[in-house]
Amino acid sequence: MDTGKVVMVTGPAQGIGRAIAERFLQSGCSLVALDRQAEGLQSLAALAPERVAWEVMDVTDDGAPARGMALARERFGRLDALVNNAGIGRPKPMHLTDDAELDRFLGVNLRSVFRFSREALGLMQPGACMVHVASTFGLMGNPGASAYAATKAALIGLTRQMAVDYGPQGLRINAVAPGLIRTALIEDRLDQPAFRRLMVDTIPYPRLGEPADVAAGVAFLCSQDAAFINGHVLVIDGGWSATNWVGPTPA
Ligand SMILES: NC(=O)c1ccc[n+]([C@@H]2O[C@H](COP(=O)([O-])OP(=O)(O)OC[C@H]3O[C@@H](n4cnc5c(N)ncnc54)[C@H](O)[C@@H]3O)[C@@H](O)[C@H]2O)c1
Repeated sequence: MDTGKVVMVTGPAQGIGRAIAERFLQSGCSLVALDRQAEGLQSLAALAPERVAWEVMDVTDDGAPARGMALARERFGRLDALVNNAGIGRPKPMHLTDDAELDRFLGVNLRSVFRFSREALGLMQPGACMVHVASTFGLMGNPGASAYAATKAALIGLTRQMAVDYGPQGLRINAVAPGLIRTALIEDRLDQPAFRRLMVDTIPYPRLGEPADVAAGVAFLCSQDAAFINGHVLVIDGGWSATNWVGPTPA
C-alpha cells in the first residue's frame, strides 16, 4: 500500500498481524493498531511513534469497532484499509465443543470481523479496501477443527458477499487463506507426530510458512497492483491445499 495511507490492523501485537503491521509501516503507511496485548502494541508503536495510533482492546467488546474508527478519524482523519487479522485457534472436535467455546470462536473470528467491517464502511472512501484473514481450514475439512473451520469458511463467504455489496461503492474486499504459518498459535505442536503428518509433511514447498509470507499477500491485495481484485481468496500455504499427497516425492 502507498506511503501515506492509513491502515487498521486487528491483532498486530504478535504473529501474522505483527508482520502485516510492520510491512505497512516499512512502506510508509500510518497504522491503527488494536490488540488486547499492551506490550506488543507498545513495541510496535516504538518503531514509528508518529505513524502508529494504538489502543488496547478486546475486539469482541461491543464498543470496540466504534472506538477503533474514532481513533483512526481523530489521529489520521481517514481509513484506507482494514485488515481483520485478530483470531483464535486450537479448536476441538464438535462433540467436545460446548456452547461457551463455540461462542468464543464465533465472537472473535467471525462476529468481530463482521462488526469491524460494518463500522469501517462509514469511514472508507472509494479506493479503500479490506482484507479478512481466513484460513485453508475454511476451504478444506480437517480433523477436529469444527468451530474454527466454520468461522474461517464464514469469513470466505463474507468476503464474497461484501465484494458484491460494496464493490459498487469503489471498495475492494478480499481475504487471505494462510496454511501453516510459524507463530505462537501452532509452534508448540510442531513436535507432535500427528500434527506434523497432517500439517507439515504435506506442504509441497520445502519449508513452513512465515508471518512475512502472509504480510506480503495482504500488502499485495491492498496495493494498486490489485486494483481490480475484489472478492478473491488468496491462498498462502506453499501448496498444502493443492494436494493430499504425503511425501516423499516419487523420483
Ligand atoms: N498461524 C497459522 O498457522 C494460521 C493459519 C491460518 C490462519 N491463521 C489466522 O491468522 C490470524 C493471526 O494468527 P496468528 O497465528 O498470528 O496468531 P497469534 O495467536 O500469534 O496472534 C493473534 C493476535 O491476535 C490478538 N487477539 C486474539 N484475540 C483477540 C481479541 N479478542 N481482541 C484483541 N486481540 C486479539 C492476540 O493478542 C495476538 O496478538 C488469526 O486469525 C488466525 O486464525 C493463522
